[in-house]
Amino acid sequence: MLSGKKILLGITGSIAAYKAPMLVRLLVKEGADVQVVMTPVAKDFVTPLTLSTVSGHPVMIEPFEPSDGSWNSHVDMGNWADLMVIAPLSANTMGKMAHGIADNLLLTTYLAAKCPVYFAPAMDLDMFQHPTTQENVNKLMAHGNKLIEAQVGELASGLTGAGRMEEPEQILQVIHRHFAITDGKLKGHKALVSAGPTFEAIDPVRFVGNHSSGKMGFAIAEALANQGADVTLVTGPTQLKTLSVGITRIDVTTAAEMQQAVEESYEKAGITVMSAAVSDYKPENPSPEKIKKTGEDLTIKLVPTHDILQTLGKNKRNDQLLVGFALETTDEHKNARKKLDNKNLDFIVLNSLKDNKAGFGKDTNKITIIDHAGEKEYEAKAKSEVAEDIVQTVIAHLAK
Ligand code: CTP
Repeated sequence: MLSGKKILLGITGSIAAYKAPMLVRLLVKEGADVQVVMTPVAKDFVTPLTLSTVSGHPVMIEPFEPSDGSWNSHVDMGNWADLMVIAPLSANTMGKMAHGIADNLLLTTYLAAKCPVYFAPAMDLDMFQHPTTQENVNKLMAHGNKLIEAQVGELASGLTGAGRMEEPEQILQVIHRHFAITDGKLKGHKALVSAGPTFEAIDPVRFVGNHSSGKMGFAIAEALANQGADVTLVTGPTQLKTLSVGITRIDVTTAAEMQQAVEESYEKAGITVMSAAVSDYKPENPSPEKIKKTGEDLTIKLVPTHDILQTLGKNKRNDQLLVGFALETTDEHKNARKKLDNKNLDFIVLNSLKDNKAGFGKDTNKITIIDHAGEKEYEAKAKSEVAEDIVQTVIAHLAK
């Protein structure tokens, strides 16, 4: 997937540098040409020998070779690369980058780089939270660099908090996304995805909801972004995470909030996939106080929520593609076809609850894609692969 891409990997003096060889391996495995440039302190954390072995190129550290005076040109490297990634980025080098200090080869290369630059901070939580560091993160972003967010977790100090470098596999995903924006089949397309459940309050502590985990919708958002689409993901309550590159995430709780967020983004979206399990009903009068038990029966009147997809279908323009989901337990195909027509969809994804590899919270799913021309049944597979099938169907429909 990264065949022929020239990537400059900057490594600085942070304990997370021990993960850098893994990142190099992942990139090289995908066909990228990786040139490593390190700060002198980074050598204390990971050896140049390891990095030159996995990258297949001598590692650049000093501006010139002391033995023969030959020059390692930061300008040439900065011009050569399609992308520069600095991972891990220490507080020290971050501060220097933010202020134009250029006292080593990595910093001069950064200043000379003509390509986009991504940076992955890695440091202890107190250093990371310090206002100076936060200011420097913002400054680097204001200068056009892209942040690969530090994660929350166990740190080398033994403390737990924000400051962990993003994992190499995730950095690889960020790099994929970056190239998809210019090379992907959906480059230049805006997409809108709804995911997860909605929660409708009964009182301040209880709600009407459903078992949707959001996994399918998140996988679809990821697969669309991996093809270069600029995705807005509107999601109900879920623990799931997303990469920020290529995906703008909007978190909502209720059907009404989801409706508002979806409708705000719909006009600009050429592709809309509504996979959310929106609550069809909500309590008519949620109690402002917690309902006390009385020992008597309790009746809560539920009233319908707005059918978001139905409205989108009514307002659909010819240049928009609209995809819905159906989860049926009886007359599956007949009911899904009815929804395809009633909601004015281009195609509908029918989820089966009858297969033990499909359903809420699972990592696999089994679907049938139904459009106006016919239908195609797929094998049960990982939700990421199902998402890929759905995105390929989107691409095929756009080509019609
Ligand atoms: N949907 C929506 N807004 C709602 C309910 C559903 O946008 N209030 C969308 C879902 O995201 C999904 C599709 O409509 O893409 C089908 O949802 P489903 O609940 O299966 O169908 P309903 O139309 O609600 O019909 P029924 O409950 O009778 O099956």
